[in-house]
Amino acid sequence: MDALQEIAKRVNVCQLCELSKGRINAVPGDGNPNAKLMVIGEAPGKYEDLQGKPFVGMSGRFLNKYLEAAGISRQEAFVTNAVKCRPPSNRKPTEVEIETCRPYLIAQIEAIKPQLLLALGTSACNALGIKYTHLSEVKGKLIDIDLGGLKVKCFVTFHPSFPMRFPSKRETFLEDLKQVKKMLI
Ligand code: URA
Repeated sequence: MDALQEIAKRVNVCQLCELSKGRINAVPGDGNPNAKLMVIGEAPGKYEDLQGKPFVGMSGRFLNKYLEAAGISRQEAFVTNAVKCRPPSNRKPTEVEIETCRPYLIAQIEAIKPQLLLALGTSACNALGIKYTHLSEVKGKLIDIDLGGLKVKCFVTFHPSFPMRFPSKRETFLEDLKQVKKMLI
């Protein structure tokens, strides 16, 4: 079993926080184990919890459409979330939940060693230790992060549910994804 499968196995039986009690399935993440790009969302929603796969609901379809429009293949990326179990009523994960789940995310980054991380929204930024007071300070920017020795570059944009809800934000979301495409060698 490879490192990613090993992590998924641990995630699937994890009981480190309360979110585990309400889940149908944990959602470790999926995609290319040799991905150049790792996409990090917030947390599973209803359909992700039902299927055990990330971004398969409405915001997933929206994300897929925009990735494709930017020329990024979702199949070639690895897609995961800051927390691996669905928060009740899709509330935002708490700081403690993000902190508790963080070692799984870091282990996935270490296993894949992607060229670039794409952080979608505040929870992903928080999980990666990116400092900001408002997301606009880091949105559309490339940030250098150091995960205890492992240095990775991370591009930050909105969580797809934001441009999905506010059509005026769709153009900048697409521009961000096009920048990401250009950064991938
Ligand atoms: N929103 C997320 O952040 N992640 C998912 O997997 C689905 C919706």
